[in-house]
Amino acid sequence: MSVDLAPLYADHLATLQRRTAVALERGGFDSLVVPAGTLHYQVFDDRDYPYAANPQFKAWVPLVRHPGSWLVATPGERPKLVYLQPFDYWHVVPEAPSGLWTEHFDVVVIRTPEEALQHLPRDAARCAILGEPQSALGAFVPNNPQPVLDYLDYHRAYKTAYEIEMMRAATVRGVRAHRAAERAFRAGASEFGIHLAYCQAAGQDSTELPYNNIVALNEHAAVLHYTELDRLPPKPVRSFLIDAGASHAGYACDITRTWASDRDGEFQALIDAVDAVERGLCERFTAGTDYRQLHLDAHLALAGVLRDAGVIRMSAEAALESGVSSKFFPHGLGHGIGLQVHDVAGFAASDAGGTLPKPEGHPYLRLTRTLEPGMVVTNEPGIYFADLLMRELRESAHAGEVDWDRVDALRPYGGIRIEDDLVITAEGAPVNLTREEFARSGAG
Ligand code: GLY
Ligand code: MN
Ligand code: MN
Repeated sequence: MSVDLAPLYADHLATLQRRTAVALERGGFDSLVVPAGTLHYQVFDDRDYPYAANPQFKAWVPLVRHPGSWLVATPGERPKLVYLQPFDYWHVVPEAPSGLWTEHFDVVVIRTPEEALQHLPRDAARCAILGEPQSALGAFVPNNPQPVLDYLDYHRAYKTAYEIEMMRAATVRGVRAHRAAERAFRAGASEFGIHLAYCQAAGQDSTELPYNNIVALNEHAAVLHYTELDRLPPKPVRSFLIDAGASHAGYACDITRTWASDRDGEFQALIDAVDAVERGLCERFTAGTDYRQLHLDAHLALAGVLRDAGVIRMSAEAALESGVSSKFFPHGLGHGIGLQVHDVAGFAASDAGGTLPKPEGHPYLRLTRTLEPGMVVTNEPGIYFADLLMRELRESAHAGEVDWDRVDALRPYGGIRIEDDLVITAEGAPVNLTREEFARSGAG
């Protein structure tokens, strides 16, 4: 990557410090204290779960394997990083602090988790402590003050230039791995085999990925969060939906593609139609647009695809109004993304709280805010032939407006989703991180 990250990171940190000063004022606190988190153990066992860094911690420093470390930010002072580097001959311990972040912090290396107490502010009661209950250390029990969280989470939707570069780097890995996954699919691999090919190409184990890979062949593509990974391929293999991301410095990408074995068949034509809907919607991801409207417009466009494919006989408007389109497109159009694949504050009405409601009848929409420059959000329309939802539709008053032979013909392919990550700009068209990387790295 040719971008000079040092000035971008410095700006990022300055932004966080500005936001923190206001957030602390709102909550009436002097300092922000953020534990990186701790390891969690399986019940009655000494086996630990994969560690996940506190997002409020990794917002400041690209440290995702540092349980027991702490961040302290006090307005007007250099931020402090209490860095746990234990004496431990059982495990590999974190290297000495290094990287472009170190020069911006007072770094204190500690050797046991308890030592952190000596380096945290004197009065825990004057601190906003953001974290999970298990991170409590002495008087430093996470209090997660709502006004502080409301402010920080609301503004986290607006990514800094540094954060966008981190997501671009995650996308480089993700796209490389998606290409490897498609090759494995074309070569006849099982879901498990495709998943391994994906991880190999991403250079990331499943615990490092931002969410569990969805690798679905045939009917499995109708299960929105299918994560079973069958060890043998079905016969015949007809279709492949992969929703898989990658991580970089704590930031995520979230990418879905759908492929057909028969590149000239009717399912490929349906994929092409959904792809065209997705690309058309992308152009409308502009500053000032209410994401709820995009979601409803996606329903209309997808209902049009279903009508053109002979699946439904009603108008797109009637399909949306009656809830029929929701039987085929039962999830939201997308969500904010960043430090978490489903980023926080998707419904935030303001930086002081409040909720922007979802459209009635659309309970799974995760984002109701108006798009503004700097936001990074996904665009992920889909069409599925899920047994449960098709049964409900067949038993509904609208059963007669559906061509059930067409549904039965398409059911064996499962479903289609196409998902890109978009940066909203001040200029008009968004930056499509996903398609830019597919284009940069080859045909796609
Ligand atoms: N990968 C989960 C999602 O697309 O939201
Ligand atoms: Mn997504
Ligand atoms: Mn996804």
